[in-house]
Amino acid sequence: MDPLRIGIVGAQFVAHLHMQNYARLRGWKIAIPAVASRTRARADELAKKYRIPEVADDFRRLLDRKDIDVVDLCVPTDLHHEFIIQAAQAGKHVICEKPLTGYFGQDRPEERIGFSVDRTTMLQEALANCEAVAAALKGSKVRFCYAENWVYAPPVAKLKKLIQVSQGTILDIRAEESHSGSHAAYSRQWKTSGGGALLRLGAHPVSAVLHLKHFEGMLKTGRGVQLQSVTAEVGQHTKVESFKKERQKWIVSSWDDVEDWATMIMNFKDGSQAVITASDGVLGGVRNTMTVYLSNAVVQVNINPNDTVMAYAPSPHIFGEEYIAEKLETKAGWNFASPDEDWVRGYPQELEDFVECLLTGREPDSGLDLACQTVEAIYAAYLSAEKGKRVMLEKRPPLTA
Ligand SMILES: NC(=O)c1ccc[n+]([C@@H]2O[C@H](COP(=O)([O-])OP(=O)(O)OC[C@H]3O[C@@H](n4cnc5c(N)ncnc54)[C@H](O)[C@@H]3O)[C@@H](O)[C@H]2O)c1
Repeated sequence: MDPLRIGIVGAQFVAHLHMQNYARLRGWKIAIPAVASRTRARADELAKKYRIPEVADDFRRLLDRKDIDVVDLCVPTDLHHEFIIQAAQAGKHVICEKPLTGYFGQDRPEERIGFSVDRTTMLQEALANCEAVAAALKGSKVRFCYAENWVYAPPVAKLKKLIQVSQGTILDIRAEESHSGSHAAYSRQWKTSGGGALLRLGAHPVSAVLHLKHFEGMLKTGRGVQLQSVTAEVGQHTKVESFKKERQKWIVSSWDDVEDWATMIMNFKDGSQAVITASDGVLGGVRNTMTVYLSNAVVQVNINPNDTVMAYAPSPHIFGEEYIAEKLETKAGWNFASPDEDWVRGYPQELEDFVECLLTGREPDSGLDLACQTVEAIYAAYLSAEKGKRVMLEKRPPLTA
C-alpha cells in the first residue's frame, strides 16, 4: 500500500505535538511532503526539526499539490471550518484539531464579541458552521477525522472495557480539564478562539462524556444515549480585584473577552448527568481527569496527573531540563513525572487510527458527529450561562462516531 501523504498546516504548539506522534508511522505508512504556515520562520523551524522537505506560507499551496492526500489542520480555531471546506472542495482528506468550530463574528473584527454578541446568535452561527462543514464533506469523497485525543487515551480505553464488562449503568460522570492558562495568542480573544476555558479546555471532557454515553447506549440498546439539555456558569476569575493587585502572577491573566473558568452540567435523555469543569486558573500542572460512577462500579481515570512515576527534588534545578509534566510551575517538591505524556493522553493512538482509517476507508472513532455535538453542547452551555437557566438541545440523529 502506498503511504498516505500528509500536509501539515500550522507550525507551533499542536503542529509539534502531531509531528512528534507521527514519528512511528513515517517512512512506511505515511509521508509528510510539506508544511504550510502563516509565519514562515516557524514553518522553517518545524521543517528543519522534523525533516519536512518543503515549506509554504499559504495553506492553499498544499491544496494545489497532487502529492498531498490529507491536510492536518493545526491552526487557530477560527480557521477550522473554512479550511475544512476548502480542503473538501480540493479533494483532500482532513484531520482537524479540537474544537471543530464556533462563533467568531468575522463581520465585527474590531468588536470584543465575547462581551457584545448574544449567545443565541452565537449558538445559531456555530451550528451553521458545523452544517456548512458537514455539507462540504457530504458532497465530496473526502473523510474527516476529529482530533479528540481523550477518545484514544489508554485510561479512557480501559474505562470503556470496564464499562462493557460491568454492564452497569453510567449514572454520574465528573470530568475536568484545567491548567494555569494557554500561552497561545489566539486564545485571548473570542474572535480567534470562539470562546474561553469551556470551549478550549472543556471540549475534551465534553467529547469524552458524549463518546462514553454513546458507547454505553450502543452496548445496551444499539443506539447512543443523547444529550438532552445543559446548564452552565462561566467566570473571569483573573478579573477579581484582589487577584489583579497581586504582583506575582502564577496563572495566565491576559484574557480579554473570554471566560477563564466554567462549569457545566450535561443532562442525558436517560436521566443520567455529567458535570464538567474547565479552568485556566489551576496550578500544579495540567489536570485531565474523569470519575465515572456506574450503578455497580466506580472508575477513576487519571490521564494527568498520574502516579506512574513520582519524583521528589529539594530544588527546582535538580532535574535540569528533563520534562516532568505540562504546565508545571516548579520541579521542586514531589511531582508526577509522566513517563510518556503523549501516550497517556492518546496522541499517537489518535493519529494511528486516523492514518489507518484514511488508508482503508474506515470511519474513525472520533469523527464529525462527535465534533458537531461537542460544539452544540458547549454553545448551548454559553447560552445557559447567559440566561441563567437550563437550555434544551434540539433533537438530532444519534452519534455515529
Ligand atoms: N488536542 C490538544 O490537546 C490541543 C492542544 C493545544 C491546541 N489544540 C488546538 O490546536 C489548534 C492550534 O492551537 P496551537 O496551540 O497550536 O496554536 P498556536 O498559536 O501555537 O499555533 C497556530 C499556528 O497556526 C498558524 N497559522 C495562523 N493562521 C494561519 C493561516 N491563515 N494559515 C496557515 N497557518 C496559520 C500560526 O502561524 C501557528 O503556526 C487550536 O484549535 C487548539 O484548540 C489542541
